[in-house]
Amino acid sequence: MPEESFALEFLDPDPDPAWVSDLARISPARARELMAEAAGETAVAQHIRSVYEAAGRTFFAQIRAPLELYALVRALSPRHVVEVGVSSGISSTYLLLALRKNEGGTLHSIDLPTRQQGPAFQEGVDSPVALPPGRESGWAVPPGLRTGWDLRVGPNREHLPGLVASLDRLDLFLHDDLHTAENLTWELSTVDGKIPPGGVVLADNTEWLEGALDRWAEHKGVPVRYRSGTSLGGFVQPSRAGP
Ligand SMILES: C[S@@+](CC[C@H](N)C(=O)[O-])C[C@H]1O[C@@H](n2cnc3c(N)ncnc32)[C@H](O)[C@@H]1O
Repeated sequence: MPEESFALEFLDPDPDPAWVSDLARISPARARELMAEAAGETAVAQHIRSVYEAAGRTFFAQIRAPLELYALVRALSPRHVVEVGVSSGISSTYLLLALRKNEGGTLHSIDLPTRQQGPAFQEGVDSPVALPPGRESGWAVPPGLRTGWDLRVGPNREHLPGLVASLDRLDLFLHDDLHTAENLTWELSTVDGKIPPGGVVLADNTEWLEGALDRWAEHKGVPVRYRSGTSLGGFVQPSRAGP
């Protein structure tokens, strides 16, 4: 596969600084600057590319907005980031990269891995999120970014309540695991009390969530902002109490 087309699959060619600007309340110019900072981390992209190639596949289902995630973390300076759904670890990589650049903050990730059935990926049999043989959740995350990463392997129902109870606050939450309305609503009700005003909540693949993200945000009286070209949505936690 030519280098160019690999890059197009992994880093979206059409990023959306306006989405970052809306959610992080920074200027579009600053959002662009932060995303360019992430795009300049070529060693990280090269690492992911080479481990993907070694695993025999060039694409694993991933968030389509890694540069935007990076920019959000740089702009918000979160103390705690929680993501549910790791797979190979594209979102994790860019969240960790930004936290390292911030020189503070912790990423807590939860993943119940889905595994490839055989040695080679089988179209129609394996999920695009499936881990190749011998790989574990977050396997593509560069080793240099793993220090301090709180990665919990297992179902969200087992890990999320205890994790949330242990945190004083949760400044950025990303849902990217089982995309059902019921699961998202359970996750949002679990994290809600720890998200401070101005904190950001994101959910990917909202096309499968039967409007659950919009309903939650509507109840809070805030708009959901959608990242262009995707169904990745997010809202800013308002100052009043949740539903
Ligand atoms: C779309 S992938 C995550 C992609 C990742 N955010 C990225 O950008 O690379 C979804 C992951 O969530 C995991 N998952 C599914 N159901 C889960 C559950 N109930 N609890 C935790 N993880 C789950 C899947 O096995 C898979 O590893």
